[in-house]
Amino acid sequence: MKPRPPAGASSASAVTARLRPHLARITSFLIVFAVGYSVGLLSSSTRPSLRPSQTTIVRPHAAHLTDASTTVPAPNATAAGVAAAATTASYPRSPPHDLFRFREECGEPVPSDAVVPTLLEKLFDGESPYAGFPTPQTAALLHPAKARPRGWGSTGAVFAELIEAVRPEVIVELGAFLGASALHMAAVSRNLSLSPAILCIDDFRGWPAFRERFRRDVPPPRHGDALLLPQFMANVAAAGADAAARVLPLPFSTASALSALCGWGVYADLIEVDAGHDFHSAWADINLAWAVLRPGGVMFGHDYFTSADDRGVRRAVTLFAKVKGLTIRPHGQHWVLSPKPRGHGNAR
Ligand SMILES: *[C@@H]1O[C@H](CO)[C@@H](O)[C@H](O)[C@H]1NC(C)=O
Ligand SMILES: *[C@@H]1O[C@H](CO)[C@@H](O)[C@H](O)[C@H]1NC(C)=O
Repeated sequence: MKPRPPAGASSASAVTARLRPHLARITSFLIVFAVGYSVGLLSSSTRPSLRPSQTTIVRPHAAHLTDASTTVPAPNATAAGVAAAATTASYPRSPPHDLFRFREECGEPVPSDAVVPTLLEKLFDGESPYAGFPTPQTAALLHPAKARPRGWGSTGAVFAELIEAVRPEVIVELGAFLGASALHMAAVSRNLSLSPAILCIDDFRGWPAFRERFRRDVPPPRHGDALLLPQFMANVAAAGADAAARVLPLPFSTASALSALCGWGVYADLIEVDAGHDFHSAWADINLAWAVLRPGGVMFGHDYFTSADDRGVRRAVTLFAKVKGLTIRPHGQHWVLSPKPRGHGNAR
């Protein structure tokens, strides 16, 4: 913003004279502003963040966040009593609302090598969705499959680092889009002689008006269908039979798919969260996915620095780490939580 000339200033030189004593402060403000703005832009772009390995330690003082006894008003409480309790309890000592209520215990674990057959049975009548795919009619609607589909931060060092450290048998990805990071994880795993099942949960609809920005990457819609699922599958199929045997699309909302996996006892050793970037979407995804993360497994996610929804992803990750007593490690554009403590849940 330009400083406004004071009332009565009659010429540019008068303005300059009046501003001169403040020039140093104005200049340093502009520099700070410009640097801050660039950092914000860079960190939300597709390039790696300027803060590669800064470590945020979040201490677990979260008992009060979930302690119901301090805040439930008695059934006979007067309005004045409730109001008094509310004013003495500042956020986040708010009522024990459902914000913190998620299922934590899931079904008897399915063995890792039975995960793909189980899901084919439950979701696809026992047949691989890639069987006979694509029909000529479908192929005619799609872009040629790309070895490196459009993605964001899909080949960051974090994938190879975590896959090598965790050596997962099952990976769950929330938010798959065109399969860029799933195919990268498949390639990294293959290089490490690992062959994890890679379960890609996505409704494959993108988001409202996303096509405006990616016309070259996504097929034109057909009868209202975004065709992201067949384009994802074409990209996976083009990566080879090995990829098609292990990279499985779960074409549902993250909440419904995760609660089904939980019920069926399908657990993952590594989970990437990269679906909705608003606080409530990220918060639900992180909590629901945590239930199907094996003890000792690692959850990480994309866009730790995105400004969407007033840094909604970061707020969700920070709150979750506080509640669970975990540490957060920013890694390029990603966030990585400390491994899920053992001795919780009934997996393994
Ligand atoms: C509510 O009821 C409980 C037990 O019946 C009593 O101890 C308490 O004082 C009551 N509170 C109010 C605000 O009337
Ligand atoms: C896998 O290994 C090959 C051969 O060394 C290499 O060219 C390729 O970049 C590696 N892929 C990944 C994703 O690390």
